[in-house]
Amino acid sequence: MTSARTMDHVFTPSADPNWVISEAGYDCLLEISRGVRFAISNGFLGVRGARAIHRGGRWVATSRTLVAGLFDTADEEEAIPGLVATPDWLQIHILLDGEPPVHRPGDGKSQRRILDMHRGAVITERRLSNASDVGVLIRSLHLACLNQHATALQLIQLENTRGEGEVQIALNASFEGLDIGLLPDRMEQGFGLWHVLGSGKRLAMAAELSLRVDGQKVSPMISGPFKWAWSWKSKPGQVACLERLVTVARGDTDDADPGSDARDALAAAQRLGWSGVVAAHEAAWASRWDCSAVEVEGDPAAQQALRFALYHLNGAANPDDERVSIAARALTGDDYHGHVFWDTEIYLLPFYILTWPEAARALLMYRFNTLDGARAKAAGLGWRGALYAWESADTGAETCPSRALGPDRKVIDVNCGLQEQHISADVAYAVWQYWQATCDEVFLRDAGAEILLETARFWSSRAQPEADGQCHIRGVIGPDEYHESIDDNAFTNVMARWNIRRALDVAALLLARWPERWESLSSRLGLGNAELEQWRSVAETIATGLDPGTGLFEQFAGFFTLEDIDLANYAGRSVPLDVVLGRERTQASQVVKQADVVALLALLPDEFPRDSGEKNFDYYAPRCGHGSSLSRAMHGLVAARLGDTDAALDFFREVSAIDLDDSQAAVEGGVHIAGLGGIWLMAVFGFAGLSLHSDYLAVDPRLPATWRSLSFGVQWRSRSLKIRIGRTTGSLEATLETGEPMKFVICGEPFTLSRAEKLSVRMKSNDT
Ligand code: BGC
Repeated sequence: MTSARTMDHVFTPSADPNWVISEAGYDCLLEISRGVRFAISNGFLGVRGARAIHRGGRWVATSRTLVAGLFDTADEEEAIPGLVATPDWLQIHILLDGEPPVHRPGDGKSQRRILDMHRGAVITERRLSNASDVGVLIRSLHLACLNQHATALQLIQLENTRGEGEVQIALNASFEGLDIGLLPDRMEQGFGLWHVLGSGKRLAMAAELSLRVDGQKVSPMISGPFKWAWSWKSKPGQVACLERLVTVARGDTDDADPGSDARDALAAAQRLGWSGVVAAHEAAWASRWDCSAVEVEGDPAAQQALRFALYHLNGAANPDDERVSIAARALTGDDYHGHVFWDTEIYLLPFYILTWPEAARALLMYRFNTLDGARAKAAGLGWRGALYAWESADTGAETCPSRALGPDRKVIDVNCGLQEQHISADVAYAVWQYWQATCDEVFLRDAGAEILLETARFWSSRAQPEADGQCHIRGVIGPDEYHESIDDNAFTNVMARWNIRRALDVAALLLARWPERWESLSSRLGLGNAELEQWRSVAETIATGLDPGTGLFEQFAGFFTLEDIDLANYAGRSVPLDVVLGRERTQASQVVKQADVVALLALLPDEFPRDSGEKNFDYYAPRCGHGSSLSRAMHGLVAARLGDTDAALDFFREVSAIDLDDSQAAVEGGVHIAGLGGIWLMAVFGFAGLSLHSDYLAVDPRLPATWRSLSFGVQWRSRSLKIRIGRTTGSLEATLETGEPMKFVICGEPFTLSRAEKLSVRMKSNDT
């Protein structure tokens, strides 16, 4: 039997302060952003960490639960699907002698909220009292199970610290704010089934609550679906423990039965009991940390930023759901309506590919499952193959709005849905990277090859031969969204060329290794040798903007003729550059919103001849206004690779501040998950200099002066490796924990890494 005190240990956060983010007191101005920072997620459920205990009514921010893939389209003229808000299952109302207890000055700082990143849980503590001086200490923990995605748990312990009185608690799942079409089909005590008006999807929720006062179970008063209440006489020292298990299921099709799924999940969780649920969840987190932890010695701030980033990255993906991907704010906020961008493939996938291949595969299968939407988009615009949606929801149809509020709050046209087409090559890039790192043949044969071929086919129809003998891609937007309807964006064209070449590689690979599969796939796609020949010719003749003389890529045709503005004159500004300069002047200038040629350099460094990488970085970095949270990470990665570790560390700190620094209100709409992915990229691809090759893995480290060491783990072709780079010792240690011996290149020198012995190498370069 659960004794009154057995919950105590769960409210004790990880002992190492570096594993927690904590906050004392309450500031209503910061409550929404705190809710985001203290969000929990398991890739299916995302719960914002606003405070759950309150006096009723709508407070500044309620906790809020988002369910991956539960989209609805509001009935508006321009219908943009968005994630539906679901019943807020965390709320609790408390009365002491019929009166809501409040914080009184004598109670000291009444509120503490702790994100325990190691355990994937939020712990809170509040001291409240009423006018007759009955005082309580309320502690709570809530989590979204990492091992059982349907299941969430809240534990509350209410301890009487002084005075006698009647305690009443009421727990409702709040249905406030469900304003975009979640309609009830069945509502019972502890069970609800809803359907989403626009999309026909269904949501089921099941819940079980129980309360023990001094170890004795107390029966609830039940007053309606999802409503429980208890009341009891309380005296000093008495401890009441409440557990709330909630399970959630999504049904996408008519034959799905989310109601049974939610009930089955609840029964499974009940069998485990809350302590079993907590134990399984903590074990799942421990295993994720084992695979993905990045440890920095010598820089506690960088260490905390990395932990925060990895906490959100590990909580954002769900290897069991191939119908969803990760939105620009993951499941932590409403900005961008839960839409998926290139952020996932370029900023997040490398982390999953190299630390959690199962999650990476599910994310890529989402792109495979939305391939028809991409084909339809290409066909609708008169091209062949697959053009992925710039903003994607559940079907793969384009969901980018055609108008939005600009940074100066004026309505502007948004052309990205039509013109920002590099997304197709970005998806192909991630498919190839996954294939390289995993050699997952089943994925490549059954899904990846088709994505590569259909995206290459798109580019080969999109790039048109012209009188100058070159193929051109006109009328696009590159990653730098300040410039629209441009021709031959270097990022787009070089990525497109690379996409076509990898598709030709995969065609040859299929033909050689799995001829039957090639036969069936190529005949289904109507893909013959003549078309492959045309692809080859496009790849050979596509304009790239590279000046062989200077080694500079021109970001797009005519870029170098635009006004060159010295951004040093605008240092210290508090608004984006396009607001300072105005949209028109920005568009007529060389000011870049975010890494564009620099992003190309980060992704495809081999496309930059000799030392031209540095030249391009030196040209473009000073012209970048970093108008997107994605930008600095790419700059940091490239700066680290080029050996400018001071500049790289500045970028690293600036990206870390986006979600962790209190001066940034931008976090209210959700964490910037691409920036968080970028933190991992800067550490592993930047400072450690990791690179993937066709038959080996390589590192070429350059650590910042303050970092004594950098350690991380990597999964590579069914192997697990741990790498430790010691800056002060100039040494690198690599351990192969599982798998066959492999080639590992350190600072250009090849080694064989095997389980038989740890590789310990003194690095030649003093830069580390
Ligand atoms: C950036 C895009 C990004 C999107 C979602 C925009 O501001 O310019 O590159 O994909 O935000 O994060």
